[in-house]
Amino acid sequence: MKSNAIWILVLTAVLVGFVALSGGGIRPAPLADPLRDRLAAEARTALARHASSGVLHEVTLVAAPTRLSLLDGRELDVWAYNGQVPGPTIRVRAGDRLRVRIQNELPQPTSIHWHGVRLPNPMDGVPGVTQPAIAPGESFTYDFEVPDAGLFWFHPHVRGSEQIERGLAGLLIVDPPEASPAPRELVWVLDDWRLDESGAIDPAFVTRHDLAHDGRWGQVLTVNARVGPTFDVRPGETVRVRMVNVANGRVFAPDFTGLDAKVVAFDALATARPLPADGLVLSPGNRADVEITIPAHAPGTRVAIVDRFGRRPLALAELRVDGPPAPSSEVRASSAPVPSWTGAHELPPDLVFRLNARRGGPHGLEWMINDVPMRHDDDHGGFHQPAPYRLQHGRFTKLRFVNESARLHPMHLHGQFFKVVARNGISVDEEHWRDTVLVGPRETVDVGVVPLDEGSWVLHCHILEHHDSGMMTVIAVSG
Ligand code: C2O
Ligand code: CU
Repeated sequence: MKSNAIWILVLTAVLVGFVALSGGGIRPAPLADPLRDRLAAEARTALARHASSGVLHEVTLVAAPTRLSLLDGRELDVWAYNGQVPGPTIRVRAGDRLRVRIQNELPQPTSIHWHGVRLPNPMDGVPGVTQPAIAPGESFTYDFEVPDAGLFWFHPHVRGSEQIERGLAGLLIVDPPEASPAPRELVWVLDDWRLDESGAIDPAFVTRHDLAHDGRWGQVLTVNARVGPTFDVRPGETVRVRMVNVANGRVFAPDFTGLDAKVVAFDALATARPLPADGLVLSPGNRADVEITIPAHAPGTRVAIVDRFGRRPLALAELRVDGPPAPSSEVRASSAPVPSWTGAHELPPDLVFRLNARRGGPHGLEWMINDVPMRHDDDHGGFHQPAPYRLQHGRFTKLRFVNESARLHPMHLHGQFFKVVARNGISVDEEHWRDTVLVGPRETVDVGVVPLDEGSWVLHCHILEHHDSGMMTVIAVSG
């Protein structure tokens, strides 16, 4: 009797609802939202893609253990793409198509994620979400068009805490479709290495200590896998230093004080205008292009570039000024249409992500998003997925990160560029897009995003130990 009564209630409710919706043929119109519509239109314009060029690049990568002379010249057992650390640089033009076959000769399943590249979801390289992991001995072919110019990188998305630390990371440099005058380039892959007493890569990965802190921080800092390399520059020359932080956990704050240095691109895309380089912070995953004009110093001058993120400055690299003076460059100031998104701050957050940890899980401590860890299935290289968050394609959406912990969390969203709109409730206009934002201890960061690609995109902390212990979730974008 009781269940009959419930059924009658349900049927009545459905009927009433149907009559209400169909009555007079009137459907509730979607609420007009002129502010959101304007913000979304600004993003669409600014993030327009380069058209297909019809050019195809075919690349083969073999991921395998090898032994290389690295760091201070010592022999080091590493895992490498095509026997190189840092991995090979793939260089294409925006609009070109890239077909990369990866052969897995590692003792573990792997995959390749194209960090920051806007590509079709099945090419995103996240096992358990966009593809099965590539088993040892097997291969996979990534095939996609590259729509944006800038500096990108690629790395495994399986046990990154081990695979990236052992040396698997390469660069994807995408030039604008037409050649234009550009300063000479220096590419700096920033990394750190934790070595054990024997001088080998410490084989203890995702330790309790790493998890209770900001991931694995090594005692050896490198630029292009070398300790303190020297780069030759000419007096008066303008160079573009293109930096990427591939470290597991370390944040770099390269100090260019005393030089005329301007940030002209961040996380691949050009900034709204050249921005002052002081205060530049690169968390794991971030890239920045910094244009430096070398003073007309006497030849032989050396300029030390140090990292000032921690309490003690740490040496990174040296510029050696030498040779005849360079002619003054005719390179124009870069600029890109980055909307300032005025008014975005007034909108409430659409999704709130609380970042926190708890005891337990396979590593003794697990990092979570909204109290849910995404458990990795290492044997199959996949994940036990939580239910995805949903976002609407093309709609301006505000995401709020609330760091409930005392640790750092560089949050990375796949497949989209976003912009910081507020920190701790105070409106900010960063004048550049990002794909990774550092959320400091107890900090709240609001970002605006207009999802322009459908599919299941992961959102995770780029401190690889936090990531591998659960700090990842899925955002499903649909129309
Ligand atoms: Cu560079 Cu999902 O990360
Ligand atoms: Cu984190």
